[in-house]
Amino acid sequence: MIQPLIVAVDGYSSCGKSTIAKALAKHACSTYVDTGAMYRAVALFMTRQNVTRPESIIKELEQVHLDFTHMPDGSQHVTLNGEDVEPFIRTLEIGNRASEISQIKEVRAFLVAQQQKMGERTGVVMDGRDIGTVVFPKADLKLFLTARPEVRAQRRFDELVAKGEHPKFEDVLADVNDRDYRDTHRAESPLRQAEDAIVVDNSEMTPDEQMKVVCDLYDKRFQEIYDRYHR
Ligand code: DC
Repeated sequence: MIQPLIVAVDGYSSCGKSTIAKALAKHACSTYVDTGAMYRAVALFMTRQNVTRPESIIKELEQVHLDFTHMPDGSQHVTLNGEDVEPFIRTLEIGNRASEISQIKEVRAFLVAQQQKMGERTGVVMDGRDIGTVVFPKADLKLFLTARPEVRAQRRFDELVAKGEHPKFEDVLADVNDRDYRDTHRAESPLRQAEDAIVVDNSEMTPDEQMKVVCDLYDKRFQEIYDRYHR
């Protein structure tokens, strides 16, 4: 029997990776893993412990135990040492801290090993920055999502306002640009498009249009693998 595929969804921050990856996992009857949530949970732990120096962060990693719990509404929450930390990790501050700590080689190795384990036995749809390049370089399907920075900043701005925050649009845009720069210029596993990734620019697409594009790509890839298997 063919396992659900391993699908890597990489791309810039706030370009809708998690929405697409979640919906694609449902379409594929597969498991969704939000790797950004793992970096954010580590960032939250270090922030709470007031640990900022890279050497101390590396030392503290052994105190960090992450998992995902499945909620009754079908969503997934990351747990940090048994605590559901989903309500605390989606702020601008923790996003920036996550981007900072993700530059540390040991932090990446710690999380990449856990991510690879999650895809060992079953198919998975995993979103992040280095999934198609480092975590699963042999993924069956690699998608690289992108959208113009202004479009991404507007989406992020709307999300923050919906949560009751009062950000300034210029700050959110500056933050998007800063994170793009950090994510693409870090020495360790910088965000880049894998050579065999398919680029999906969703600046001008509705959520339904995007879904159709990625589900069609998945179905096509699944059919190719199925045909090869049954030749
Ligand atoms: O996808 P996100 O915004 O939740 O990710 C938060 C930060 O974590 C992002 O700025 C970079 C880092 N990250 C990473 O380096 N590698 C991943 N696979 C996922 C996230």
